[in-house]
Amino acid sequence: MRAGSERAFSAFGPGKVILLGEHAVVYGTTALAVPLSLGVTATAVPAARCSLHLPPGVRGPGRQQLRRAFARAAEAAGRPAVQVSLTSRLPVSMGLGSSAAVSVAVAAVLLQAATGRSPSPGRLRTLAHGMEGVFHGTPSGVDDACSALGVPIRFRRRGAQAAPLVRRLRLRRPFELVVALAGLRRPTRDTVAGLRQRQTRWPLRYRRLFQEVGRVAEEGVRAAQAGDLRGLGDAMNVNHGLLVALGVSSPAVDGMAAWLREAGALGAKLTGAGGEGGAVVGLFLKGEGQKARARLARAGVRCFVSQVKRTP
Ligand code: MEV
Repeated sequence: MRAGSERAFSAFGPGKVILLGEHAVVYGTTALAVPLSLGVTATAVPAARCSLHLPPGVRGPGRQQLRRAFARAAEAAGRPAVQVSLTSRLPVSMGLGSSAAVSVAVAAVLLQAATGRSPSPGRLRTLAHGMEGVFHGTPSGVDDACSALGVPIRFRRRGAQAAPLVRRLRLRRPFELVVALAGLRRPTRDTVAGLRQRQTRWPLRYRRLFQEVGRVAEEGVRAAQAGDLRGLGDAMNVNHGLLVALGVSSPAVDGMAAWLREAGALGAKLTGAGGEGGAVVGLFLKGEGQKARARLARAGVRCFVSQVKRTP
């Protein structure tokens, strides 16, 4: 048995919601993301060789992708002699960072098993980002950075070779998010590729839209830092309109965003890749989210509340 693999380890990777800036972030503008309390836990127990245990319910291309992503991280971690298994309470393929949460949990547990210590944030992010590449092709990295750091972040890509700019955000006021699921969606990779085709055909038009998303995201970041939740909510509403213009929303998602605003959200928008469905996030004052969640649940919508704490 290799060093560090004589005992069991576990690690948690949170899901995330992007409050501002998805899609445009792939082209180098700012995004604001916060971690969710729901996520994925990876457990590693001593075994004859490094392997991933998947229940029979995980089938098809998803199973193969998980195996390929695991093999990549296992190789990078030195193949510690453990069997890794996963448990998750996070809705899968809804734009809530489930693949990033898996990547962070698996990378962390493999690195712990290999060294006997908690991994450094840099090493954890490198391994997790490598796994995300297997799931999504060329992800911006915002999902895995947010999950690995486990705090609200401002994120900006700086080209293929340079490391992205990642800043922990200081939030002056806590708030609540209501996350509602508005139907199944295509894989992130497909929605990102569709937008890339439109951007390649009409580059100036799409560049203008990306730049505007980036400006709104910067304004929203400043509002969040100043505790101006109405300003942050308005930025989210405007960002949703820009996502509609980018062609990544859908009638189900637009309807859910309108519904959340009507239920008292200071702002509501598509979150994550979107496409034909996906998740919608509403921003609420502390103590207000549960009422909206209960109303949505009574109408048969799958939804949950996530708390975002003040960060000193
Ligand atoms: C997916 O959670 C966010 C996207 O911006 C893709 C990416 O950043 O890689 C749609």
